[in-house]
Formats: sequence, structure tokens, C-alpha cells
Amino acid sequence: MEILQTLHSYLAYVVLAILFLAVANAFAGWLGNKMFTMGKDLRLSLFALILSHIQLVIGLILFFVSANGLKAIQALGMGGLNSAARLLAVEHPFTNIVAIALITIGWSRHKKFMEGKKKFKSIAIFYGLGLVLILSRIPWGQWFN
Ligand code: HEM
Repeated sequence: MEILQTLHSYLAYVVLAILFLAVANAFAGWLGNKMFTMGKDLRLSLFALILSHIQLVIGLILFFVSANGLKAIQALGMGGLNSAARLLAVEHPFTNIVAIALITIGWSRHKKFMEGKKKFKSIAIFYGLGLVLILSRIPWGQWFN
């Protein structure tokens, strides 16, 4: 499934960029005591949520079909994976599932609040944590090669 890997690899740029924008916007809104608008603020956070979920679905399929995902674990055993193989098959998928769960929680929580400051804070903290987790387990070496 070459095409899925290519898609996952290009979408990664878009997801990271929009997550970064959403987090920066949320911190600016939170710390600057701004109004949470249905135009820019809601749309930016929603786009980041949707794109992360699309990336999650593609990633999950990749995990099952790619030679570098589940198949690598089955072939070599957990203990047989070197650190690069473990990053692709275990750490990256697991960490990103957790990260996207956090992003989803941030989105759901923001809806419960009326006050703009609290909405921004929920998104800033949960999307921010998600982004940090994602960045911590990107297979950089493989991505740029
Ligand atoms: C926002 C979330 C994510 C980002 C930014 C991301 C980004 C990336 C990048 C840049 C690569 C390397 C692509 C390349 O070789 O050019 C990759 C590979 C991979 N990702 Fe993700 N990913 C995300 C989420 C996930 C999730 C949730 C899963 C699985 C549950 C997953 C599973 C995989 C697998 C299995 C590979 C290795 C594919 C292969 O080498 O055949 N990813 N990802």
C-alpha cells in the first residue's frame, strides 16, 4: 500500500501545520482574553481535529498493512525490533493514538464552556499536549529520505 504511505507522509505536513496554527491561536486567545469566534477560532480548531482524525484512520490502516507496522512485530517479536523499527511499529502509532485522543478531549471540553477564555484554554492545553506528543515520535529520518 505504497499510496497510503505517501498520503500519510504528505498529510503529515498539513496536520502538523494546522495543529501548530490552532495551538498558537488558542494560546493567543487564552492569554489575550479574546472572544472565541465561530468564524476563525471554531473553524481552525475543527479543521485541526478533522485532519488529525483523517491521519489517524490512514495511520491505523497503515499499521495493519505496512511491513513496518504490525507485520514487523509479528516477524521479529517485540524484543527483536531495533530502536528505529520500534519507533515505526510501536512508539509512533501508540503515542499518536494517545495524542489524537487528547486533541479530541480538548475539542469536546471547549464546547462545554461559555466563556471564550476557557474555550481557548481547553484547546491550547489539550491540542498543545497532543502536538508535543506527536512531535516527540515522528520518524524524522524516514520521512525526509
Ligand atoms: C498526527 C498524527 C500523525 C502524524 C503527523 C504522522 C506522521 C508520520 C510520518 C511523517 C511518517 C513517516 C512517513 C514516511 O515514511 O515518509 C509516518 C509513518 C507511519 N505512521 Fe504515522 N503519523 C501520525 C499518526 C499515526 C497513527 C495514529 C498511526 C497508527 C495508529 C500511524 C502509523 C504509522 C505507521 C505504521 C507508519 C510507518 C509506515 C511505513 O513505513 O510503511 N501514524 N507517520
